[in-house]
Amino acid sequence: MTKIRAAITGVGGYVPDYILTNDELSRMVDTTDEWIMTRIGIKERHILKGEGRGTSDMGAEAVKQLLEKTKTDPSEIDLIICGVVTPDMLFPATANIIADKTNIRNAFGFDMNAGCSSFLYALTTASKYVESGSHKKVIVVGADKMSAIVDYTDRATCPIFGDGAAAVLVEPTTEDFGVVDTILQSDGVGRIHLHQKAGGSAKPPTHETIDAREHYVYQEGQPVFKWAVSKMADVSVEMMERHNITPETLNWLVPHQANMRIIEATANRMGISKEQVMINIQRYGNTTSATLPLCLWEWENQLRKGDNIILAAFGAGFTWGSLYLKWAYDGDKVG
Ligand code: UT7
Repeated sequence: MTKIRAAITGVGGYVPDYILTNDELSRMVDTTDEWIMTRIGIKERHILKGEGRGTSDMGAEAVKQLLEKTKTDPSEIDLIICGVVTPDMLFPATANIIADKTNIRNAFGFDMNAGCSSFLYALTTASKYVESGSHKKVIVVGADKMSAIVDYTDRATCPIFGDGAAAVLVEPTTEDFGVVDTILQSDGVGRIHLHQKAGGSAKPPTHETIDAREHYVYQEGQPVFKWAVSKMADVSVEMMERHNITPETLNWLVPHQANMRIIEATANRMGISKEQVMINIQRYGNTTSATLPLCLWEWENQLRKGDNIILAAFGAGFTWGSLYLKWAYDGDKVG
């Protein structure tokens, strides 16, 4: 029987209009553009403003653009998975809300939360449904409104994060393109270094948890940095070795955009040059589940059919992984 592969056949994206610059941040907390650029590599990030607007509003914009670009009717979609850490509500799933806002009525859908690796986990899951032959048009969204859980009085975390969303369409192909292989890993011991203390079932919200500012991102930067550098590079190098990919035959690395220094360390371990790496952290910051698809969205018109691409991520959990993809279409011929 011919093997069915799961190929990305389109990308849509959305970032909100409001831009929070390092200069504005340095008027809010004790920081400087120079510190943020040297230690993290971020110049500005987009922030979703407006009462009652949540992650699904950005996800829906990305999905609408994706449907338009790929000339897909919402009724054709049979599964929608949303990678997200900042759902609109604890329940129902943000995937369901995005589906409603984009008139997707024939699909089942659910959220996946694997910290900053959420999109990688969700894309892998989607590819399994497609490879099995059970689903033909699957949307994977990566979306986060990190500004909802960032403490803008904490200089150690507030420069890092931004808001955004992007989505891909995944379809079956019998050609030699699409998702070739994935390595996904996790180690729950890392949760002590990166989490949100209150608001879940272990510590429901109370006046005390709010007064103690426990509904924000809690991060111990240094241990997270060390794990991220070693784990993201380990699985990316392993992926290259498994498939005999060399620095010469790899077209693109799409790394999670958490810190420019982590991206550079990963590229160095893989032996590739910076020109082979998609980097937009300067303009968006860490948009958590949205970083990888936002890169694909921005670089789409440079991508060629057959390009060898490795996606890599590291996030809360800890979770991490890499995914090897053969790009399925010429990105400049879209729309
Ligand atoms: O996406 C999920 C995964 N997350 C990550 O991958 C994040 C990984 N961690 C990091 O990227 C880095 O650890 C951070 C960017 C979070 C922090 O950078 P760092 O080089 O590890 O800084 P640090 O936490 O060791 O702090 C160094 C100094 C401290 O001052 P002292 O104690 O040396 O006097 C901090 O108080 O920098 C100070 N500092 C700041 N100074 C100016 C911390 N934040 C700031 C700031 N502006 N915004």
